[in-house]
Amino acid sequence: MNNIERINLLEKERDLPQEEMRALLLTITSEEMEILSKAARRQREIYFGKDVYLRGIIEFSSYCRNDCYYCGIRKSNKKARRYRLPGDTIISCADRGYTLGFRTVVLQSGEDLSYSTDEICRIVSTIKNDHPDMAVTLSIGEKSKAEYQAYFDAGAERYLLREETASEAHYMKLHPAELSLENRKRCLFDLYDIGYQVGCGFMVGSPYQTQDDIISDLSFIKTLKPHMIGIGPFIHHSDTPFGNQPDGSLSDTLKLISILRLMWPDALIPATTALGTIHPKGREMGIMAGANVVMPNLSPKDYRKGYMLYDGKICTGDEAAECVSCMTGRIESTGYKVVMSRGDHPDFRK
Ligand code: 5AD
Ligand code: FES
Repeated sequence: MNNIERINLLEKERDLPQEEMRALLLTITSEEMEILSKAARRQREIYFGKDVYLRGIIEFSSYCRNDCYYCGIRKSNKKARRYRLPGDTIISCADRGYTLGFRTVVLQSGEDLSYSTDEICRIVSTIKNDHPDMAVTLSIGEKSKAEYQAYFDAGAERYLLREETASEAHYMKLHPAELSLENRKRCLFDLYDIGYQVGCGFMVGSPYQTQDDIISDLSFIKTLKPHMIGIGPFIHHSDTPFGNQPDGSLSDTLKLISILRLMWPDALIPATTALGTIHPKGREMGIMAGANVVMPNLSPKDYRKGYMLYDGKICTGDEAAECVSCMTGRIESTGYKVVMSRGDHPDFRK
């Protein structure tokens, strides 16, 4: 099989035999990438037309009990400037997002145990009471099934938790021994069982990642059947153990966005901030590769520099309103259209 045949088969079958996938990943040329991304756009337009969904993200705490080797807010990074927003500030940020037109708010943080389950539930249910037509997405890490259920009962409908890598050996190279891939996966399946729209994902070009590791992510995704898939390039953070490691590449990330789109035509796939960080037009290129979500920063301006997951993170200076108009201009320059609706996965549309 040549790459054109592989792309055609992938578009038709939404999958490729592992050896063919491996060959495609390894040998695709830039001309063939054009064909791949055109196929990806064709598929995304069947389910989503030209729509690109906006989610306002509030990074509400940069305290984290974990120590992932790649992450700038890991607990051992004594240089990190930490902050934690009070519940009522988070709620008023969500209000501001609503006024700006957002109908999805993503509450993300490090694993900060100072917010009790009751407090997270109070924040979620207050936002839902005030704005019943707004979707609340949580991205606050690994919890027990009972906690996930409590957030869900309080009104959270979606949850983002990247597996980071689905390969056991690779997982251990990215994380200290206290963290396990097994628990990570347990969390994702629990979230799915409860009835969340679930987002998983991985970093592209993270240290020690091999082609086989990427193949294991693709096959893990087939088992989980997530509604959202977030991928972005690894970007080093100077004050971490991976401070001298090379960054992931733009073209590898775009290639994988297109492949994921062909495997999952109806999924929500963001053009991530990390993609916008490694290239000034990275997010626009992500949309052209098949992504259909962007997540402008809604965190209060003064705190944004405290959520530095990696060096050079963009959108840490603008006002939220500027982020919206900036993103709208950027998306519309690609020929796609920003929509502010909730943007549920097709299986969850009422
Ligand atoms: N480079 C790129 N992405 C990173 N993340 C954390 N650290 C980095 C980094 N150095 C990603 C992880 C996490 C998400 C919130 O940010 O994939 O799940
Ligand atoms: Fe916070 Fe990895 S450093 S979860």
